Amino acid sequence: MTGPSSDPESDPQSRAIAGLRAAFGGDRPRTSEPVLAVAPGRVNLVGGHTDYNDGLCLPLAVDRHVAVAAWPRDDDVIRAHATDFGETATLDPDDSPDGWTAYVAAVARVLREDVSLPGADLAIASDVPSGAGLSSSAALELAVGQSLLGVADATMDPTDLALACWRAERDGVGVECGILDQFAAGLCESDAALFLDCRSREFEHVAFGGDVGILVVDTGVSHELADSGYNDRVRECREAVAALAAASGSNLTSLRDVDTNLLERHADALEDVHYRRARHVVSENERVETARKALTAGDFDTVGDAMYESHESLRDDYEVSCTELDAAVELASETAGVYGARMTGGGFGGSAVALVDGSALDRVEREIRASVSSRVGEAADVFACRPSGGARLVMSD
Ligand code: GLA
Repeated sequence: MTGPSSDPESDPQSRAIAGLRAAFGGDRPRTSEPVLAVAPGRVNLVGGHTDYNDGLCLPLAVDRHVAVAAWPRDDDVIRAHATDFGETATLDPDDSPDGWTAYVAAVARVLREDVSLPGADLAIASDVPSGAGLSSSAALELAVGQSLLGVADATMDPTDLALACWRAERDGVGVECGILDQFAAGLCESDAALFLDCRSREFEHVAFGGDVGILVVDTGVSHELADSGYNDRVRECREAVAALAAASGSNLTSLRDVDTNLLERHADALEDVHYRRARHVVSENERVETARKALTAGDFDTVGDAMYESHESLRDDYEVSCTELDAAVELASETAGVYGARMTGGGFGGSAVALVDGSALDRVEREIRASVSSRVGEAADVFACRPSGGARLVMSD
């Protein structure tokens, strides 16, 4: 079903509010202020494909957001309008709809297990590119979750909201993802990265010990986690754990229980593919620890080296990169002022992230922009961003 769309030039918050009024305003007085929630996209500095292995990661939220404007309803119906697509739908949370509506319905369904939510009219607008590996889906989930809590005048611990949105993505959308994206979109703070232990679910905000900038190189190659090799990697890791447990006679529950020593001792008992998947995860957890310490100390060369090593490991051992991502990382590595770069997100397309000397960010962006289409691809794009805060309600005027 299509409905009215609004000015694509304005920011997501204004577009969401305009979209809400256009799609659902009807007889409402214009003074009826909507609830407005935003949630950011994310990049991950190091810690790729560790989250569903109970491992460590180091994401940060970018200053691109999904915004959701919402009005409560007198019944329990949820209607949603996607301003960017000009689509409007009435959701049945017990149904399994497709596309963007699946995320909205899944979040509503999961939240209603714990919170009494009234019906709501929602309008969504975003400047997080979708399919770019920046986790626009977690941003959508968290923004929808915050807005539904907002219209219900309810609050939820931010960790519980992130976990609810993670369950919505797994159960509602069918991706066997870990908690990285929802925790990043929910819990990040401005000017800091988030050190996240996906086993204990404890986290710490890691301030940057100096002036750094973030550059995203979006390859323009779209990825869809549910259709990609993502769930295969999850399975291969489980198989590697089972094979290592059998070979070592130890009670291993995840690759987090494995260190380099144990892996190398039993390497011969593993199929090559399992050995390489495990080697990536085990070494990646070590790189996160290294990068976390170096980030605080302002030792950005060391963080950058960990990012390059992470990319090589994801490319060669984990096999989730692609030609365009490799080209983006290579291009970044040849540009003065770049400390390090790697693919971010699930892979098979999407974006690379570069850590850049803050004082050189504008020049680095210009230089990379000048050759990104010839080096990476016609559809590639580059943009600088700042580490931003996680999902929140904002004043709507
Ligand atoms: C996707 C998933 C995350 C995580 C990353 C890879 O973004 O949604 O859970 O596994 O890939 O680090």
